[in-house]
Amino acid sequence: MASTNQQQRIILITGANKGIGFEVVKKLIEQPSSNSKDIILLGSRDIKRGEDALKQLGSPPNVHLLQLDTSSKESIAAAANEIKQKYGGHLDVIINNAGIVPRDNTIQAARETQVTNYYGVKMLNEHLIPLLREQGRVVNVASSIGPMALHCFSKDLQEKYTSETLTKEQLDLLVEEFLSTYESNNVEKIGYRPDLPYLVYGVSKVALIALTRIEARQYSGAQNIFIYSVCPGYCATDLNNKAAGARPAALGADSILYVVDTPNHELENGGFYLDGKKEPQICMDEAKVQFFIQTSKKHLESK
Ligand SMILES: NC(=O)c1ccc[n+]([C@@H]2O[C@H](COP(=O)([O-])OP(=O)(O)OC[C@H]3O[C@@H](n4cnc5c(N)ncnc54)[C@H](OP(=O)(O)O)[C@@H]3O)[C@@H](O)[C@H]2O)c1
Repeated sequence: MASTNQQQRIILITGANKGIGFEVVKKLIEQPSSNSKDIILLGSRDIKRGEDALKQLGSPPNVHLLQLDTSSKESIAAAANEIKQKYGGHLDVIINNAGIVPRDNTIQAARETQVTNYYGVKMLNEHLIPLLREQGRVVNVASSIGPMALHCFSKDLQEKYTSETLTKEQLDLLVEEFLSTYESNNVEKIGYRPDLPYLVYGVSKVALIALTRIEARQYSGAQNIFIYSVCPGYCATDLNNKAAGARPAALGADSILYVVDTPNHELENGGFYLDGKKEPQICMDEAKVQFFIQTSKKHLESK
């Protein structure tokens, strides 16, 4: 068993073998204060890709590979077991970073995206939040595309996704209704906007931001656990084929680490953050949404 003590934070980052998650690990080991203190669990669904990432980091003694496919219940249960056996069964921070964009417009790809970006996070949190110590926190990596997408949906959908009384069961139902109308090609019938760029990905992040608020209500109180969602900003990674003009993934990591390192009393439990600022659940900036739509359409046409 890796030796741990009370001061050491045990931090799990999913999908950390590349992209923004990898940069988060890199920054955590570079932080002078946490260099030898934090135990970092580098989550990777593929062992070989995880080992390569570890090597790239110079195999620091406080970084350990944890095989974890966040869309698989069995893999999450095995990871929970490994945390119990090797790390004393404790975690202090969970960073749900793993995420995908749909590979095409099929219903299979749409479902896979919801399974990874929404259902996977929900399932992982249900299994691993019980391992969090007092004052532990969870960071769900969402995207500003979520609030911009929600801006474009019907008032009814906006009210449902932002309701203070929304439950996980109702949220699952919203996602399922989206998927079934997506399959039958009539999402507009229930208030979605079919021509919105990155619609499926956007809905997955709308759902994740809503889930974060539900979880924050669920786990505050007695358990004293804090849950945030965060956007890393538009970063050049494999997710967007290293888009020209996007910022370095290291800046995305900074946006995530802000909610990892800022004292909980300075943050709003359940809030959505970007670059250290709290952002609304529905984007109110019409010009920003129009800019997103126009530039995304151009980007998609050029592919
Ligand atoms: N890049 C951006 O501009 C941007 C903007 C806003 C939000 N985000 C969010 O930031 C997060 C990281 O994205 P990124 O840009 O760093 O993308 P990336 O470079 O494509 O990395 C994604 C990571 O997630 C992993 N992953 C995917 N599905 C997984 C699963 N089922 N189980 C475990 N790991 C899985 C990938 O593993 P493999 O290597 O095995 O595929 C990879 O390590 C995502 O949640 C994304 O939605 C990104």
